[in-house]
Amino acid sequence: MAPPRPAPPPPRFFFTLLLFLHSITTTASKSISLPPTPSPTSSPTPTRPTPTTPSSSSSPSTLDPKQLRALESLNIPTSKDPCQSKNNATLLCDSSKPFRHLLSLSLSNCSADDVALSFTALKSLSSLHSLSFLNCPISPIRFPSELASSLTSFTCIHSLKTLTGLWLSRLHNLTDLTVSSTHVNGSGPYVILGNMRKLKSITISHANLSGNIPRHLNLNLTHIDFSGNRLRGKIPSSFTLLEDLELLNLSSNALVGEIPTSFGDLISLKNASLASNSLSGSIPESMSAIPSLVHIDLSSNQLNGTIPRFFSEMKSLKYLNLANNDFHGVMPFNGSFIKRLAVFKVGGNSNLCYNHSVLSSKLKLGIAPCDKHGLPMSPPPSKADSSADDRTSDSDYDESDGDDSGGKKEHHHGPSKVVLGVAIGLSSIVFLIIFLVLLSKWCR
Ligand SMILES: *[C@@H]1O[C@H](CO)[C@@H](O)[C@H](O)[C@H]1NC(C)=O
Ligand SMILES: *[C@@H]1O[C@H](CO)[C@@H](O)[C@H](O)[C@H]1NC(C)=O
Ligand SMILES: *[C@@H]1O[C@H](CO)[C@@H](O)[C@H](O)[C@H]1NC(C)=O
Ligand SMILES: *[C@@H]1O[C@H](CO)[C@@H](O)[C@H](O)[C@H]1NC(C)=O
Ligand SMILES: *[C@@H]1O[C@H](CO)[C@@H](O)[C@H](O)[C@H]1NC(C)=O
Ligand SMILES: *[C@@H]1O[C@H](CO)[C@@H](O)[C@H](O)[C@H]1NC(C)=O
Ligand SMILES: *[C@@H]1O[C@H](CO)[C@@H](O)[C@H](O)[C@H]1NC(C)=O
Ligand SMILES: *[C@@H]1O[C@H](CO)[C@@H](O)[C@H](O)[C@H]1NC(C)=O
Ligand SMILES: *[C@@H]1O[C@H](CO)[C@@H](O)[C@H](O)[C@H]1NC(C)=O
Ligand SMILES: *[C@@H]1O[C@H](CO)[C@@H](O)[C@H](O)[C@H]1NC(C)=O
Ligand SMILES: *[C@@H]1O[C@H](CO)[C@@H](O)[C@H](O)[C@H]1NC(C)=O
Repeated sequence: MAPPRPAPPPPRFFFTLLLFLHSITTTASKSISLPPTPSPTSSPTPTRPTPTTPSSSSSPSTLDPKQLRALESLNIPTSKDPCQSKNNATLLCDSSKPFRHLLSLSLSNCSADDVALSFTALKSLSSLHSLSFLNCPISPIRFPSELASSLTSFTCIHSLKTLTGLWLSRLHNLTDLTVSSTHVNGSGPYVILGNMRKLKSITISHANLSGNIPRHLNLNLTHIDFSGNRLRGKIPSSFTLLEDLELLNLSSNALVGEIPTSFGDLISLKNASLASNSLSGSIPESMSAIPSLVHIDLSSNQLNGTIPRFFSEMKSLKYLNLANNDFHGVMPFNGSFIKRLAVFKVGGNSNLCYNHSVLSSKLKLGIAPCDKHGLPMSPPPSKADSSADDRTSDSDYDESDGDDSGGKKEHHHGPSKVVLGVAIGLSSIVFLIIFLVLLSKWCR
């Protein structure tokens, strides 16, 4: 009469099923968050960023001893021939004889204990064309004029404590200037840029830069990034003379007034952000003439008027952010346009609505459907909703870097439904098995 214990197997089976279920859920959610990225294990050879050493001559001469001593005095670890070596300082040398000279020097991750800049050392390094400080919060010194004139590229990211506009303005032969996450004390862009006649690319971001955008800029500029500063005043209309400008980033400043009506004269523009300022008025019609616009962010301003339809005619457009403004009326885009974009945001415009016979509510645009008069029907979704939507769109943007960007918004709901279905199916099977086991036990 001893019971042959049929009870243990079902719980174990149940447990296994649960594990199985769990693994389905985790793999499914993983594939949602990062689908097209290759698996990290698939690249066996770690491709290290090698120092930019020219591999030209077979028996290259060595570095000028004066420059070698200068590097040593700056406490930059050097081997016998630093032109060939790899260390914190990335070097590029020319191939002159009898001695080579430094062309490019990049210092990373140094601290005030490691490195102290000295005038004499920098003076013997005035063959440099390119100088970078990355994450080197050491004290800046006045550069010798030989070095200040020879530099064509200067980069300072989270380095050199505080700089001044005057200090930067001495680097007058620059074509590329990048200063980011470093305070630039007290002066506006004009002081810095006034003498830089050859400048093509300028980034001064997250630098507490104040003042106005200069009325006269070098017309050869292709990149301007002044994001994350305290720039005030209007965007001067002379700005639109920059026919070669490809990237413009004025986001997160305190700019006011309207976007210049001649904005469309920036015919080379590809990426532009005027986000997070206090710009007002409407989107200038001239913008429709910019042929290769890829990325435009006008979010978080007080722009008003209706949203122009011309964006949907822009063949290269991938990113359109008009969120958090005062746009009104019927949103003029259809689903096929929105799906073509990697990122599309219009939430946070309380008087804007979408035509529900043209667009599905599944797109979760963060705005209300229109009534028959073209006015928003219900109160717009709460702030929490629209920011959740923002996040979704952001990950969409990452995913669609590859190819398919169609129907991405639905994808986010698709897989979780599948998982739910599988879960319900499997748990019904489990319960059926338990029920059958109990039934057979009870029947005996
Ligand atoms: C500097 O430090 C960061 C992180 O602390 C690291 O990722 C980077 O590779 C370092 N750069 C160099 C050149 O050592
Ligand atoms: C070189 O980098 C390492 C870590 O990245 C750091 O500990 C060391 O102090 C650096 N040396 C110099 C001279 O910058
Ligand atoms: C830098 O500019 C000055 C004149 O402003 C010029 O004489 C000098 O040759 C330039 N240096 C380089 C390396 O281009
Ligand atoms: C910044 O500039 C102000 C005056 O413009 C000056 O008083 C102050 O000492 C400067 N700060 C630094 C760190 O240079
Ligand atoms: C930014 O600059 C202003 C003056 O232009 C100054 O009052 C303020 O302290 C600066 N902020 C920081 C964090 O240095
Ligand atoms: C700068 O632009 C002018 C005309 O806009 C052009 O003639 C000149 O060649 C350009 N200079 C450089 C260095 O590209
Ligand atoms: C502008 O700068 C901000 C912050 O520096 C950055 O997040 C954003 O991607 C930039 N936008 C463009 C169009 O470069
Ligand atoms: C848009 O904003 C501008 C400037 O703030 C204002 O003059 C204009 O009346 C506004 N237009 C509409 C339709 O709200
Ligand atoms: C321009 O915008 C596109 C689309 O958002 C982006 O993929 C690209 O990296 C941006 N280019 C630059 C230089 O910021
Ligand atoms: C969507 O709008 C674009 C541009 O306005 C148009 O070319 C396309 O035919 C429209 N598609 C549909 C399905 O209406
Ligand atoms: C919505 O679209 C339909 C079909 O294109 C059109 O008949 C209707 O007038 C539109 N409604 C509004 C408010 O624009």
